[in-house]
Amino acid sequence: MNKYKITTYGCQMNVHESEKVAGLLEKLEYSATDDINEADIVVFNTCCIRDTAEMRAFGNIGVVKHQKKKNPNLIVVVVGCMSQQEGYLDIFKQKYPYVDIVLGSRNIAMLPKMILESKNSKSKFRSNLQPDDYLETDEKTPVTRTSFPNAWVNIIYGCNNFCTYCIVPYVRGREISRDIDSVVKEVKSCVDEGYKEITLLGQNVNSYGNDRSDGASFAKLLAEIDKIEGKFRVRFMTSHPKDLNEEIVDIIANSKKICKNIHLPAQSGSNSVLEAMNRRYTVEHYLSLIDMIREKMPDCGITSDIMIGFPTETEQDFEDTLTLIKKAQYSSAFTFVYSPRQGTIAAKMEQISPAVKKSRIMKLVALQNSVTRQISKNYIGKEYEVLVEDKANKLDGYMCGRTDCGRLVTFKGDENLIGEFVNVKINEAHSASLFGNIVE
Ligand code: SAH
Ligand code: SF4
Ligand code: F3S
Repeated sequence: MNKYKITTYGCQMNVHESEKVAGLLEKLEYSATDDINEADIVVFNTCCIRDTAEMRAFGNIGVVKHQKKKNPNLIVVVVGCMSQQEGYLDIFKQKYPYVDIVLGSRNIAMLPKMILESKNSKSKFRSNLQPDDYLETDEKTPVTRTSFPNAWVNIIYGCNNFCTYCIVPYVRGREISRDIDSVVKEVKSCVDEGYKEITLLGQNVNSYGNDRSDGASFAKLLAEIDKIEGKFRVRFMTSHPKDLNEEIVDIIANSKKICKNIHLPAQSGSNSVLEAMNRRYTVEHYLSLIDMIREKMPDCGITSDIMIGFPTETEQDFEDTLTLIKKAQYSSAFTFVYSPRQGTIAAKMEQISPAVKKSRIMKLVALQNSVTRQISKNYIGKEYEVLVEDKANKLDGYMCGRTDCGRLVTFKGDENLIGEFVNVKINEAHSASLFGNIVE
C-alpha cells in the first residue's frame, strides 16, 4: 500500500486542512506514516505568519531533496498559506525543483487530480486563491480526523480585516461562511462518532455570516449548536474584539455546551498602535468587553495574542501594553515579536531595531508569566470537570486535559481515559500548568 507523510505548520486551520489532505489521500488508498523513508508522497502544509514559520518550512522542504534522490518516485507536495504568497510559486520552481505540486489552501481538493497529472506531465504547479465553487467543493472533501477527542469544524474561511501587519488576508482570500445547516450537520455527525469537543474555526468567528444573505450570524450558530443532544463541549477561535458583542456573550453565558473560554487577541495596549494596525477598536472598548464578559461569566478563561515591535510602537506604547496586561488578567497569552510580511502595509514602514524588540518581548513575557502564576494559585483546592485529551508530556503514568475555561490540567491516569470527562481536584500550580488528582 502507498504511504503518505504530512508535516503541518501554523494554526489550527492548517491542522484541520491537513486532515482534509489526509482524507483525500486515503480515498486514493494511501495510508499514513511518520517515517519519510517509507513515504510515497510527502506533504508540507505551510504557514507564513512570521519569518520564523516560513524559515522552518523552507528548511524542512530542503531536506527532501536528498530523499528524492534516494526515491525518484517520491511525490513532494506543498500546500497552505506560504504557497499563496506573491512570487512564491516561482521560488519553488527555481529553488526547489524537486517539489512536484504546489496548491493553495482553497485548492487542496485538486490534490488527487494533480497527483495523477504529476505522473504524466511536466506542468506540476497549480495555485488559485479564490475558486468560485470553493464552499461546494469543501463540503464534499473527505476528512480523516487526527485529534480525538477534539474535532475541528470550519465555520468561516478567509479574512477581510487587513490588519496592517498580517499576511493572512492576502494568502487566504476573502471571508466565506458555510451555511448554518451544514455546520450543524457536521457537528452532529462528530458527536455521533464519539467526539467530545468541537472546536469551531475561523480567522474571525464573530464575523461569521456577514458575507451571507440568509441572516446567519455567529450568535445564531452557537444557539443552534447548543441545542444538539449529547455530552460534548464546544470551543471556538478566534474572536476579534471589534465584532464580539453582548448577544454572543449572553448565548455563551446561558449555554450548556459552549465553554466559558474566549481567546480575544488584543495585540497592543496603545490606541495609536491599534489604529496603525487597523484593528478598529480602542483599548477602552477592549477593556469594556473584558468587564462585560467577567460580569456575565466570572469564571470565563480569557486569553490573548500580544505583539511587540510593531513599527510605530514607542516606549510609551509598549508601557501601555504592559498596563493592559496588568488590567486584563489573562489566564495566558501568546506573545509575538512583530515580523515584517511582504506586501503588507506595516512592512513598508520604518522598522524597530532587533535589540529593542528583544528587550520588550522579554519584559512582556516576564509580566504575563507573573500574572499567569498568580491566577493559577486561585485554582488550588478546587474541583473541575476535565476532558481527558492525551498522555502528559514527558510524564509517565500521567494524563492531561482541559477545564471548561481552557486550563491545562495534569493528573495520574491511563490512556483508557482519553475522551472521558473526569473530575479533578487541583493541588499544585506551576505557572501555566495545573496538577491535580481524579476524584469521584
Ligand atoms: N485571526 C486571528 C489570528 C491570526 S494569526 C486574529 O486576528 O486574532 C495569530 C497571531 O499571530 C495574531 O493574533 C498576531 O498576534 C500574530 N501575528 C500576525 N501577524 C504577525 C506578524 N506579522 N508578526 C508577528 N506576529 C504576527
Ligand atoms: Fe490577520 Fe487581522 Fe485577519 Fe487576524 S483579523 S487573520 S490578525 S488580518
Ligand atoms: Fe499561518 Fe496561515 Fe494559520 S499564515 S497562522 S497557517 S492562517
